[in-house]
Amino acid sequence: MKITVVGAGAVGASCAEYIAIKNFASEVVLLDIKEGYAEGKAMDLMQTASLNGFDTKITGTTNDYSKTANSDICVITSGIPRKPGMTREELIGINAGIVKTVSSNLIEHSQNTIIIVVSNPMDTMTYLVHKTTGIPKNRIIGMGGALDSARFKYRLAEALDAPISDVDGMVIGGHSDKGMVPLTRLATRNSVPVSEFISKERLERVLQDTKVGGATLTGLLGTSAWYAPGAAVSGLVQAIACNQQKIFPCSTLLDGEYGLHDLCIGVPVVLGKNGIEKIVEIQLSDAEKAHLKESAEGVTKTNGLLAL
Ligand code: 2OP
Repeated sequence: MKITVVGAGAVGASCAEYIAIKNFASEVVLLDIKEGYAEGKAMDLMQTASLNGFDTKITGTTNDYSKTANSDICVITSGIPRKPGMTREELIGINAGIVKTVSSNLIEHSQNTIIIVVSNPMDTMTYLVHKTTGIPKNRIIGMGGALDSARFKYRLAEALDAPISDVDGMVIGGHSDKGMVPLTRLATRNSVPVSEFISKERLERVLQDTKVGGATLTGLLGTSAWYAPGAAVSGLVQAIACNQQKIFPCSTLLDGEYGLHDLCIGVPVVLGKNGIEKIVEIQLSDAEKAHLKESAEGVTKTNGLLAL
């Protein structure tokens, strides 16, 4: 199983590290445009192999896409991250050109690959990869909901004073501060609805803290987060590589599902060897449907900024 990660920055390198430590891939190729940067990160990561007990071979390359040839899965993390106070949407001017070039180069060397998009504004970048590559929609996946759901669970466990392993919850909608739709109604502590443990007001605070989870970290770190994004995307890679048939909220091209058309936005999907095996249409409340529709309007507006 060969995985390519484009962008050897904090998110890309964290993703490569988590993939290696999970030891399900034979090879990870890390690619960056900065001379020697991917090679250095790959070598440093390989020097943890005996310490972290993995056999995955990590190599780095400076912008040589021939080294990515015949990758089973390609992860696009390249582009600039947010600065404090910025929205993800403000990155479109620079990141759209990068993602367009990167996705074209990847497909040229790996015609059958599955592409996972992390670069922001992620839902719009995922849509751009569809327009750029034209590959089947089950092979283009946007990673945002898995990260947002991890932050949701973190905030729920905090509110419940419970171990995170006891908590479950999902965030759908756009990967944006205003567009996320945390499904608080369906969140549970060991199969019990969380509303049985915490007040509506406290749950609302969980919802709000989740929506600005990325911005909160950018304010603290001075740049976008990387551990959780890297871990989230490595989970999607593993689900595909190991044909796990697990459900994740992922940004995918909708063609009528949830009453939405011609955009990529986070909804529950089954991930397996074919990438998106199935889009799962769950019953949403009227309020959740309205939030998802509003979120979709925001994503469509950002898509309109693309020079397609
Ligand atoms: C985040 O929310 C980078 O969009 C990513 O941290």
